[in-house]
Amino acid sequence: MTAPMVKIDALSKRFQSGGGLFAKPRTMMAVREVTLSIGKGEVLGVVGESGCGKSTLARLVLRLIEPTSGRVTIDGTDITALSAGALRRIRRRMAMVFQDPYSSLDPRYSLADVLAEPLRLQGEVIAPARVDEMLASVGLPAALAASHPHQLSGGQRQRVGIARALALKPDFVVLDEPTASLDVSIQAQIIALLADLRDRLGLTYLFISHDLGLVRYFCDRIVVMYLGSVVEVLPDTRTAPRHPYTRALMDSNFAPDPARRRVIEMLTGEVPSPFALPPGCAFATRCPRASDRCRRDTPALGGDAAHPVACFHPL
Ligand SMILES: Nc1ncnc2c1ncn2[C@@H]1O[C@H](COP(=O)(O)OP(=O)(O)OP(=O)(O)O)[C@@H](O)[C@H]1O
Ligand code: SF4
Ligand SMILES: [Mg+2]
Repeated sequence: MTAPMVKIDALSKRFQSGGGLFAKPRTMMAVREVTLSIGKGEVLGVVGESGCGKSTLARLVLRLIEPTSGRVTIDGTDITALSAGALRRIRRRMAMVFQDPYSSLDPRYSLADVLAEPLRLQGEVIAPARVDEMLASVGLPAALAASHPHQLSGGQRQRVGIARALALKPDFVVLDEPTASLDVSIQAQIIALLADLRDRLGLTYLFISHDLGLVRYFCDRIVVMYLGSVVEVLPDTRTAPRHPYTRALMDSNFAPDPARRRVIEMLTGEVPSPFALPPGCAFATRCPRASDRCRRDTPALGGDAAHPVACFHPL
């Protein structure tokens, strides 16, 4: 890995829900003690099932929400400790692309307005040529500048979402399931665009997906999350997983192969409520290797520093 650009240190987020006159509010840890670093120019993948805390982690890293504890530093600046003004300045360096380009683009505005908005908010005047340039950078013709988001295809809308995220020339971009709502062939085009932009602009990515196959294709290292915790960090895309959960995720990519179905069935086991995690390893209810120790003690992320895993009986 190159020198770390982003450092995430014991980052946690607790959410509270419910509560009322007679009911106590319930709390859950959406992100629990996550420690990671992202090298300059790296594509770090984060993978895990729905609800495991991927988007919460993304929003914490950009400080769009406040952490319950822990820190995030970008090139040595602790952004969790910055004042609003200083945070606004450093935010220019960071951007986020969302899953659903439709809901993140205002239908009332033309693409020229949508693309100019981040610059306008910074008090900059935008020449029409700049909008054309932004469209061209994501492979869209200048003729689209006057169109509205509903006139575009899903892939075109996501291209606009990416162009808008890059408007202020950030160097760190969080991509939260940027292709999850697109057809497979369009997905491949968007991934190719993101790879090209990374090379051309020297971007660093945090790439979030529930699809381990996609993450293995696109990312340099892979972080696997389960119920708010990191359970394994794969040092590259070739190394075999050691955590039973990562193994199961990987095997579920090959669902048509009958020999693998047993593992997929395992993944349908009962997921504990995040509001009432049992003692011990959170994966024990679905894990074929679970022992009494797993149901009693919580495994910490450890072992090989380049390939840490949180499991008492790794593969
Ligand atoms: N603002 C909030 N208030 C209360 N609970 C929340 C809030 N945001 C997220 N959660 C809960 O935190 C957990 C993690 O949610 P998060 O959206 O980070 O998961 P995710 O991995 O991004 O899931 P998905 O793949 O469905 O996008 C979930 O149980 C979710 O219900
Ligand atoms: S600690 Fe035990 S239950 Fe948890 S993943 Fe490892 S073997 Fe399975
Ligand atoms: Mg999410």
